[in-house]
Amino acid sequence: MTQYKQPYEELYPHLFSPLKVGKKILRNRIITAPTHHPFAIGTDNFLNEAGITYYGDKARGGAAAVTIGEAKLDKLNSVAHNCHLDLTEEKTLQTLNLFTDYVHTYDSLASIEFNHSGQFSLPEYCGGIGPMGASSFVMPNGLLLKEMDEEDMEQVAESYATSAVMAKRGGFDMILMHYAHGWLMGGFLSPIVNKRIDKYGGSVENRVRFPLMVLDRVRKAIGDDMLIELRISGDELTPGGITIEDTIEMVKGMEDKIDLAHISCGTRMVAVTRAIMHPTHFIEHGHNVRLAEAVKKSGVKIPIGTVGAITEPAMAEEILAQGRADYVAIARAFMTDPDWAEKARSGRVDDIRPCIKCLRCLDVSMGRVNTDSKAVLQDFTKATRRNDCSVNPTYGHTNLMHRFPAPTRQKKIIVVGGGPSGMQAALEAAERGHDVTLYEKKATLGGQLFYADYVWFKVDMKKYRDYLIRQVEKAKIKIKLSTEASPELIHQEMADAVIVAVGADPLIPPIPGVDKANVTKAIDVYVDTEKLGKKVAIIGGGMVGCETALHLTHSGREVLLVEMVDMLAPDGIFTERTHTLDYMDKDPLLTCHVNTKCTEILDNGIKVIGESGEEQFIEADSVVLSVGMKAKEEERDSFRGTAYDVISVGDCLKVGTVYTAVQTGFRAGLRL
Ligand SMILES: Cc1cc2nc3c(=O)[nH]c(=O)nc-3n(C[C@H](O)[C@H](O)[C@H](O)COP(=O)(O)O)c2cc1C
Repeated sequence: MTQYKQPYEELYPHLFSPLKVGKKILRNRIITAPTHHPFAIGTDNFLNEAGITYYGDKARGGAAAVTIGEAKLDKLNSVAHNCHLDLTEEKTLQTLNLFTDYVHTYDSLASIEFNHSGQFSLPEYCGGIGPMGASSFVMPNGLLLKEMDEEDMEQVAESYATSAVMAKRGGFDMILMHYAHGWLMGGFLSPIVNKRIDKYGGSVENRVRFPLMVLDRVRKAIGDDMLIELRISGDELTPGGITIEDTIEMVKGMEDKIDLAHISCGTRMVAVTRAIMHPTHFIEHGHNVRLAEAVKKSGVKIPIGTVGAITEPAMAEEILAQGRADYVAIARAFMTDPDWAEKARSGRVDDIRPCIKCLRCLDVSMGRVNTDSKAVLQDFTKATRRNDCSVNPTYGHTNLMHRFPAPTRQKKIIVVGGGPSGMQAALEAAERGHDVTLYEKKATLGGQLFYADYVWFKVDMKKYRDYLIRQVEKAKIKIKLSTEASPELIHQEMADAVIVAVGADPLIPPIPGVDKANVTKAIDVYVDTEKLGKKVAIIGGGMVGCETALHLTHSGREVLLVEMVDMLAPDGIFTERTHTLDYMDKDPLLTCHVNTKCTEILDNGIKVIGESGEEQFIEADSVVLSVGMKAKEEERDSFRGTAYDVISVGDCLKVGTVYTAVQTGFRAGLRL
């Protein structure tokens, strides 16, 4: 028989080879890792229309299995926040079956994660009942844990079994058992949480006993025509926590009862491991592969998956080709681009929108707030519960796009400024069929994102910027580089709309000596690093100041950072900020002073007034200003009246982040 081949089988032969597991076939080796989103599961705890589309689109985009995160298994003490998908009510089946039908249309499998929040449960979501866990102690949030007795274990196992039946009735093909990250089951497995001296604590064999009992009950409830996948931490990254040796023993102990397992890392018990569990831009891509590899090579028979910062098909292919894992589980890369797998399969990797690992998706929508403590603090009154993604403007609301009907005629659109907001606006306007011209006064596109070329932890940002530029170049957009678009020029063009994306300038604080030759703006240090001396003082400790400090110490400079308010980087996104501060804490070349005001800049340093209230001199060869940006209002407003519609976007509208640049740019294009 002739063996026919498709191009993707040459490019990614391992990634796109099917995997038969139990009675199911995964059409390729790509599973979307479990994610929970408040926009997808409403406060009534049922999967909603936005959720069906959001999760289901990943099947349409080529994933072999799509996983909904963190289902709620009972109402007593398994719940850590609202918006857990509720498997205890019949009503849930209505939308679950719509979702699983959607997924099955694309020959993908529908999976749902079972998680009992255990020690992280909150009484306000559990009818006033306090948390329970493997052992009794006071949690960082002040709640006293009840040590579970066998009656509690029985009740929990029963809730897993009844939820499993519900998942089966909802049309799911797989259940993902969340035994990682130190929730209830992960807590039983972990020596950090599990201090029991009975048959459920101590040795690995004992710690696995209750989790095994639960697996048995789930299997009994669903039979063997559904798959059970295990999620486990291969390393809790904490002294005294689970090690890879423990994990290997645990997986071996459980493998008869499960069909496949993927290996994550970290524990919620130690806040800074969150930033590795949900890897920030400081963490290398594929950082957990070593853990999957160790489990796989230990002789287990079931397929082993890896998860964490896998963003590129070529990397996924290499991991599989080298036999380090049998499949990849991917979360964020599918949020930024739900068509990740289809684009890889059809040779369009250049069109995959990269994730910048900012973790806006995780923290902002859930109301994680910044404080001067390192504990994870959640203030649900601050949660946006919105679909927050910095780079994917349609993330989580593709089903609302029908609100924006297609234009009735092609319009002539001019975009002034080729930073992220201008590029995003131009792309959306071109996508809607308009005739778009983009003016950029510099010789290159990218705006302020140019800095990503210079900073060791901005690799993902660089990839994103390059993606945007590629897309603009590929779209039918006329690009005019090195061309200043004056209001006169634009007016003569007789455009239907002008989108003004001229950005912002650094703020110059009114400090005596600010115009001295040894003073540089933060935005200029990247290209001009060599001009800076060995000792640098940075004025301003927002996120930009902090990242600039890390960039400069990386070049071997000694850095002193002063910040007027009482905390550093209050404008950062929670997990990214925590990780940035952690790196700063450990940096021997960096000293930071909060509650400290710079009063004068001298040729050989700065004068400051700190907490003591006394003026002090600090020696420095160079001074870097990082006190914020100011919209270019005058330039922006000079375009008023130059076309029928004049729309401002990005920093010139309001100084913000990549998120605000992309959102405002996208919406400007969308309304035309
Ligand atoms: C917005 C968001 C929600 C998540 N929700 C869950 C969840 O409900 N359950 C879970 O086990 N992990 C959850 N995770 C963790 C992911 O499954 C994954 O382990 C992690 O993001 C690393 O993979 P990635 O680098 O491919 O994103 C979530 C991650 C993100 C970013």
